[in-house]
Amino acid sequence: MFARIIGVGSFLPGSAVTNHDLMLRGVDTNDEWIVTRTGIKARHLVEPAGTTSELALEASRRALTAAGLNASELDLIIVATSTPDFIFPSTACLLQGKLGNHGATTFDVQAVCSGFIYALTIAEKFIRSGSHKKALVVGAEVFSRILDWQDRATCVLFGDGAGAVVLEASDKPGILASALHADGAHHNILSVPGNVCSGQVIGDPFLRMDGKAVFKFAVRVLAEVAYECCAAAGVEPNEIDWLIPHQANIRIIEATAKKMGLSMDKVIVTVDQHGNTSAASVPLALDAAVRDGRIKPGQKVMLEGVGGGFTWGAVLLEF
Ligand code: ACO
Repeated sequence: MFARIIGVGSFLPGSAVTNHDLMLRGVDTNDEWIVTRTGIKARHLVEPAGTTSELALEASRRALTAAGLNASELDLIIVATSTPDFIFPSTACLLQGKLGNHGATTFDVQAVCSGFIYALTIAEKFIRSGSHKKALVVGAEVFSRILDWQDRATCVLFGDGAGAVVLEASDKPGILASALHADGAHHNILSVPGNVCSGQVIGDPFLRMDGKAVFKFAVRVLAEVAYECCAAAGVEPNEIDWLIPHQANIRIIEATAKKMGLSMDKVIVTVDQHGNTSAASVPLALDAAVRDGRIKPGQKVMLEGVGGGFTWGAVLLEF
């Protein structure tokens, strides 16, 4: 029994906000600095009242349409997000209500930029156990809510968006192997170290990052976990048709591909169009490459995430 992706969808809110647009909005930056160091040319930002569950809903509808499934047929809904609509109920429950599904197992996963990889792996284990048959797995974020627009070293890097896949139990190959890791010793290099207590924000409600430490950590673990996943599946790295790493930064993506001996022709890159959308980044890139026909049935695709925690992981699948 495999868990197989049968539909993919994604959603970016509003129109693209270019690097130049950020300058016009008062951020002390320039296109050359951002593009050279990150590869990011634009990001999408929600209107002030926009929520993660709304973005998740649009991506989920598209994935369900691609799968030819009605939301009522789902028996598992998982949303990966670090920017939930509320403290509770979970964003997954809010999404479930919007989709009109009643009764499915429904919960959020919080693993920051590795969230979609964690959620996909969890869904696969539910399906392989035989307890669930049809799962919706979503990565959705409104990171603009937690950005300090006075901190030019972080605010230019992130954007809002959502991506979703529908998984089904199948005897045809789907997810071949996965690996998930975390090391909380590194919790302080990327965090939003605030909390709400007795009606007040305690601590810092904005994203803080040690960019250089994050860079080094990400490049090391993305290559390591890809090899681990290949070994678990008995697949050589050169047999991978497409690598879809977390879309945070083109230099991290290029360094990972180089370490794995993969040409950039085999790497899906969308970070230029939407910046780092955390848990949404991998399914956004997957959807783009499925819809434009690059990813074809039967091909081997490696998905990879890395993010706050620190967390990291990979999923190798046959599409
Ligand atoms: N525009 C213009 N100048 C800027 C900007 C900006 N947006 N931000 C910082 N600078 C300036 C700094 O003030 C500094 O100026 P100074 O030398 O006069 O003091 C100069 O640029 C260099 O700053 P550094 O922080 O040293 O820049 P660095 O070369 O390390 O690049 C970056 C920063 C792009 C964040 C890099 O560290 C990086 O790519 N890190 C990876 C982090 C990442 O991708 N995180 C994503 C989230 S984590 C994840 O998803 C896994």
